[in-house]
Amino acid sequence: MSAELKRTIRNEADVRRSVLESTLYSREAGFAETPSHLIATAVSELVRNILKYAGSGEIRLRRVKKLNRRGIEIEVVDDGPGIADCEAAMSDHFSSGGTLGLGLPGVKRLMDEFSLESAPGEGTRVTVRKWI
Ligand SMILES: Nc1ncnc2c1ncn2[C@@H]1O[C@H](COP(=O)(O)OP(=O)(O)OP(=O)(O)O)[C@@H](O)[C@H]1O
Ligand SMILES: [Mg+2]
Repeated sequence: MSAELKRTIRNEADVRRSVLESTLYSREAGFAETPSHLIATAVSELVRNILKYAGSGEIRLRRVKKLNRRGIEIEVVDDGPGIADCEAAMSDHFSSGGTLGLGLPGVKRLMDEFSLESAPGEGTRVTVRKWI
């Protein structure tokens, strides 16, 4: 499989495709079935946030290595309105959209490494990694 997989997210069909493709990508990168589904769940939350809050954006999947470990890195970026208070956005049950507010904190729990970079007017970038 190619080193990087990039997909534009603009609608519900793109969301579904990226969830499916991230499962397959993780499996090919060497993850077992259960962790590949956890990765797909994280992808689902992140790309749904794009649709809900930014309208459109992009997901990039790549394989990564650290010392003797292999894993996957997922970057989800948009040029939407950004997040004013990232700490609040990371707390359980914070939602400006009237839903559960468990997406971002849930993704952090599912993955091994998590980074949220966002500011008002500057879009949002979430970068996560999981090791096999
Ligand atoms: N890509 C984004 N652009 C702008 N704001 C975002 C983005 N992603 C998340 N947020 C903000 O961070 C908050 C928390 O996101 P999170 O995914 O945890 O919860 P939610 O989407 O509101 O609810 P849930 O994911 O449980 O349905 C959102 O309510 C929103 O205010
Ligand atoms: Mg969400």
